[in-house]
Amino acid sequence: MNYQGKTIWITGASSGIGEAFARAFHKEGANLILSSRREDTLLEVKESLGNDTSTVKIVTLDLTDTESFPIKAKEAISAFGQIDVLINNGGVSQRSTVLESEMSTYRRLMEVNYFGSVGLTKEVLPHMVERGAGHIIVTSSVAGKIGTKFRSGYSASKHAVQGFFNSLRQEMYEHNVAVTLLCPGFIKTNISKNALTGDGSKFNKMGDAHSKAMTADEMVQKVMPKIKAQKEEIYVTGIKESLALWVQRFSPTLLNKILKNQKVT
Ligand SMILES: NC(=O)c1ccc[n+]([C@@H]2O[C@H](COP(=O)([O-])OP(=O)(O)OC[C@H]3O[C@@H](n4cnc5c(N)ncnc54)[C@H](OP(=O)(O)O)[C@@H]3O)[C@@H](O)[C@H]2O)c1
Repeated sequence: MNYQGKTIWITGASSGIGEAFARAFHKEGANLILSSRREDTLLEVKESLGNDTSTVKIVTLDLTDTESFPIKAKEAISAFGQIDVLINNGGVSQRSTVLESEMSTYRRLMEVNYFGSVGLTKEVLPHMVERGAGHIIVTSSVAGKIGTKFRSGYSASKHAVQGFFNSLRQEMYEHNVAVTLLCPGFIKTNISKNALTGDGSKFNKMGDAHSKAMTADEMVQKVMPKIKAQKEEIYVTGIKESLALWVQRFSPTLLNKILKNQKVT
């Protein structure tokens, strides 16, 4: 896939993995639509891309505000005339046990991570189906396959993402719209700082595993060839997460026993 002149809409583009995708696709010569809530930070990302940013447009949005999506999608499609790739990447994590977590925190995790991605995809899909081409990518997680302590709501939201986008893929084969589930393990971003605690306030700490993990730019470099090949499911993990995925396939019970003693923050 050659991205020169293609249009990529990236959510969660103000930080971490989304920002790294913005850099990578800009280098490929693509038009970019950058989305998240913070306009000032998106402007900084845009400016960091270099002098020629005529191919970069900002569309601010809150992933919990699905009612705004029809207008946001119209704005995004009209920016460069079409959307070739939608990267549903914006998301929020969790650092609280089930006993500590309020229902409002569970709802927020689902609103941002699941309904946000579903809602935006539903707005862009008719446009892609009409053109008979497109690629929908969603940043799921290893947590979309494996539940761990302190992540009950996060893991549930990513499991829901897996189910929805696996179903969507089957419906989209006949329309030539590819669907990719991207499943990273720990990546060094602000995800743990921004994670929700039980009452919905920010965790505000960098987790150990995240601080030692690969950077978002390293991650994106690794996955770009697979994204170009429109792979259906992409894993990008450290050794521990790879091992966990392997053990889960053969003995979920053993994995649960191992994970209960692991530090996962
Ligand atoms: N880092 C990891 O270890 C890891 C591992 C597996 C999966 N992931 C997934 O990767 C994706 C990106 O995370 P990251 O690691 O890059 O974390 P990050 O640095 O915290 O970035 C999160 C992004 O999501 C946006 N966002 C959060 N809430 C939003 C909302 N309500 N509306 C719109 N945008 C919102 C943020 O932008 P604003 O604050 O400007 O709105 C920010 O751009 C997430 O889906 C995450 O679950 C991360």
